[in-house]
Amino acid sequence: MDGSKNAALPEMAAALMATSPVHLRGLPELSDIDNMVRLLAELGCEVERDGRDLRLIPSADGSCHARYDIVRTMRASICVLGPLLARYGEARVAMPGGCAIGDRPVDLHLRGLEALGATIELDGGDIVAKADRLTGATVFLGGPFGSTVLGTANVMCAATHAEGVTVIESAACEPEIMDLADMLNRMGASITGAGTPRVTIRGRGTLEGCDHRVMPDRIVAGTLAIAAAITNGDVTLEDFPLDHLLAVVDRLQATGVSVQRMDELEPAQRCTVKITSERRLKPVLFTTQPYPGFPTDLQAQMMTLLCFADGNSIVTEKIFPDRFLHVSELTRMGAQVYRQGGTVVVQGVQDLVGAPVMASDLRGSASLVLAGMAAKGTTTVSRIYHLDRGYANLECQLNTLGAEIERFDPDAEAQAQAAPSQAEVC
Ligand code: EPZ
Repeated sequence: MDGSKNAALPEMAAALMATSPVHLRGLPELSDIDNMVRLLAELGCEVERDGRDLRLIPSADGSCHARYDIVRTMRASICVLGPLLARYGEARVAMPGGCAIGDRPVDLHLRGLEALGATIELDGGDIVAKADRLTGATVFLGGPFGSTVLGTANVMCAATHAEGVTVIESAACEPEIMDLADMLNRMGASITGAGTPRVTIRGRGTLEGCDHRVMPDRIVAGTLAIAAAITNGDVTLEDFPLDHLLAVVDRLQATGVSVQRMDELEPAQRCTVKITSERRLKPVLFTTQPYPGFPTDLQAQMMTLLCFADGNSIVTEKIFPDRFLHVSELTRMGAQVYRQGGTVVVQGVQDLVGAPVMASDLRGSASLVLAGMAAKGTTTVSRIYHLDRGYANLECQLNTLGAEIERFDPDAEAQAQAAPSQAEVC
C-alpha cells in the first residue's frame, strides 16, 4: 500500500521546522504531493526526490509566504501555517477557499494559534500570523463537526516551539495525527497522547531532521477493498492498515463482505487481508464520524457499493454535509439514491448501467470508477484530474485485478474535444 497522502502532506510541512535534512519514505506519486513540493520550494525548502522517498532540506532564511495561486489548488497547503509560525515567528498563508465537498473554514486553526500567543490578521485574502514568542497553553479544538485534522497538525507543530507545555483538548484522533506526532518526536519533539482527544506537547525550541516512513494510506486501502467487494472479486491486499479501518470493515462485513486476515503480524497496520463477497449484499446504515468512526473519505465509495444491496441503506454524512456530488452521477447510471440534507437513502438495484459521468472531487471520482467497474456496459469518467490528487494510477492497480480501465490520452482528448482528461471504465 502506498504511503498516506493525508499523513505525508502535514509531515512535509513539518519538515520546514527542521534545522537539518528530513527524509520521508514511501510517499505516493500524486499531484497533491507534487503541489506540496512546489510550495515548499517556494518557501525555500529544497526537495530532492528518489523514487518514493523525499529528502527535504529546509532553509534558515526561507520565505514565509504561501501564495494564493498554489494554496487555491490544494486546500491542504494550510498545514504550512503552524510550521512557518514556529520556524520564523511569522507566516502569510492565503486563506484556502471552499471546495466541491463544502465550506472549508479554518477558524479553529486560527483560534488555536492565537491561544499560543500569535496575532492573526486577514490582509488581502491572506492569513497573516505573527508571534515574537509562542507560549504553551491549553487549546480547545472542538468545532460543530468534531475536531479538525489539519488544525490539530498546525497547533501541534507550533506548540513544539512554544515555551512551556501545550495541551490540545478535543484534538483530532486520526491515525495521520499519530503518524505526524511520531515523526515530530523523532525530530526531538516531546508529544504524548497523539491519537487521543488530549495531546500534550512540551516545547523544545528547535527540531532536528529525521528519517520517517509514512504510514500506509487507509483511504486507498479501503477503496481497494470496496473495489474487490463491488465486483464480487477474490482479492488479497498487502500492507493493509486493518486497525485503522475497523469501522469500515465492520460495515463491509455487515453487508456480507468477508475481510479475512491472512497473517498474525502485530500491529495490524501493515497486514495481509483477503476480500471476498456474497453475490448479493445486505443493506446497512452508516454515519461518517471523526476517527475511529466511519471516515468521510470513504463515504462515496461505500455508497456506490450499497447500490448493489438487496434493500434500502441509509448514509448520513456528519463531517461535510454537502459531500454528495457523486449522487447525481450515480443516478445517471441507474442508481436509486434519494438525498434529504445530510442523509441519503440508497435503494439497491439489480444493476447499474454504464454512462458518461463527471468527477467533481477526489473521493467522488473514485466512487464513479468503482461504479463503472461493476456496471453493465462502458462508463466514461471525465475530469479525472480529481482522481490523480489522491490515487496513484488507480486504473493500473484495478486492471491487475481484472478490471478493464483505459485512460484516455489527455492530449488526444484535448484535441478531439477540448475537454479535460477522462478515463473509460468498463
Ligand atoms: C482532513 O481535512 C483531510 N485532508 C480530509 O481528506 C478529510 O476529509 C478531513 O480531514 C476529515 O477527516 C487532509 O488531511 C489533507 P477538518 P481537514 O479540518 O483537516 C470543520 C481527502 O479526500 N472545520 O478535519 O481540512 C470542517 O468544515 C480529504 O483526502 C471547522 O469548522 O478537515 C469539517 O466539517 C478531503 N473549522 C470538519 O471540521 C476549522 O477550523 C472536519 O474538517 C476546521 C475544520
